[in-house]
Amino acid sequence: MFIPAVSGVKNRWNRPERNKSVSTKIALGLQWGDEGKGKIIDFLSEDVDLVVRAAGGANAGHTIKAGGIKYVLHLIPSGIVHPDVRCLLGSGMVIDPDSLLDEVLSLEKSGISDVRTRTGISGGAHLILSWHTEVEKNRENSSRPVGTTLRGIGPCYESRASRYGIPVSYLKYPDLLGEALNDLYHSMDIRSEINPELMKKTLLENHSWIIPMICDVSLEVHNAQKNNMRILMEGAQGVLLDGVHGTYPYVTSSQTVTGGIYSGVGVGPQDDDCVIGIVKAYTTRVGNGPFPTELKDSMGEFIARAGNEFGATTGRPRRCGWLDMVALRYAVRITGVKKLALTKVDVLDGLDDVFICNSYKNDKGDTITDFPPSGVELDKMTPVYESFSGWESSGINNISENLYSYIRTIEDLSGVEVSIISFGPDRLETVLREDFSGFLR
Ligand code: IMP
Repeated sequence: MFIPAVSGVKNRWNRPERNKSVSTKIALGLQWGDEGKGKIIDFLSEDVDLVVRAAGGANAGHTIKAGGIKYVLHLIPSGIVHPDVRCLLGSGMVIDPDSLLDEVLSLEKSGISDVRTRTGISGGAHLILSWHTEVEKNRENSSRPVGTTLRGIGPCYESRASRYGIPVSYLKYPDLLGEALNDLYHSMDIRSEINPELMKKTLLENHSWIIPMICDVSLEVHNAQKNNMRILMEGAQGVLLDGVHGTYPYVTSSQTVTGGIYSGVGVGPQDDDCVIGIVKAYTTRVGNGPFPTELKDSMGEFIARAGNEFGATTGRPRRCGWLDMVALRYAVRITGVKKLALTKVDVLDGLDDVFICNSYKNDKGDTITDFPPSGVELDKMTPVYESFSGWESSGINNISENLYSYIRTIEDLSGVEVSIISFGPDRLETVLREDFSGFLR
């Protein structure tokens, strides 16, 4: 039984009815990103004290519509639009300070005047500099582009791994910053006119505003857990883009699985954590790489149009296809997801039939039901579909029997209950499974 999700900010200090068994929720995307995480995370943030982002950078784009205002966030957790929520950027993140400043200014312009005091940034997160984006642009012009967002994400993580990166905390120590920039400059193939001295000057002049926001994210989250505060850790990108478990090499450079979220925040799993996986009613992918259920026909174009499937970060059109349960089962397996949030169901409204892929055929004609862990093998798979009768229209008061059947099949084939369904970008266009509503509060 699903009930409409009623919006309203609760008093965080006085929740006698609150369910103490879950203090930390982890929300992450289960496909190739763009699952509608922004909306679901915003929705889940209504009842938490702390929202923490673990990894990635401004390659992510979360769109939220609340109170008639549209917010597009790339770095700051979506929880910022809730007045009582503190937001943290964890050590696993890579932060372009120019993008961060743009985002802060835009939030301030939208009326969130306390964004700087409600946001904390880990000193251990790394800075993305124009050198990183320049290196990436040169690389993506090569014969084997990944189709990245060109935000300097990969080169920045490379600098971190090679021990030449620039942690955010270095902004506090100008001499150390100067030396580190010099070392970084000479460690990379940079043809930029910006030399280390100029980079240091620009960083200190333009971005010393970050210094008061630097904090120990790991400790803050640990203390919040000890004090039984409610925490939401948000993932970025999607599980199939994970740098280790995704469709390598067409992946991002961070770890998007649950383990990557713990690592990026700097805490370990607690007994009562609940991992919520966000999955779109169909599949999309941006950039290159294998995508078995991709529809390169008018149906793909219909979904792209109906779902407004254009990247929030780059504006690139997204590739669209049917829901892939082989991939979803894999995502559930490697993340320990306990609940599903199903998004953008309304996009499929009005279709005579909808399809779900529950197995593949490989190039030898064998049936494959487990996702091949390598992107190379995935490229050789042909989807096998099951068809479902479509539904005319859907909404919070309109879940037809055909739509129920689609949802039940997703639950049966994934082994996980669908606890949240979203029918549109607004917070109010959401229903919850009745018992999940109790769990949230
Ligand atoms: P990068 O993260 O910019 O290095 O891009 C690597 C791959 O991940 C590319 O295929 C991007 O399109 C994809 N990607 C990165 N971030 C997102 C996201 O937030 N949504 C969807 N795809 C993403």
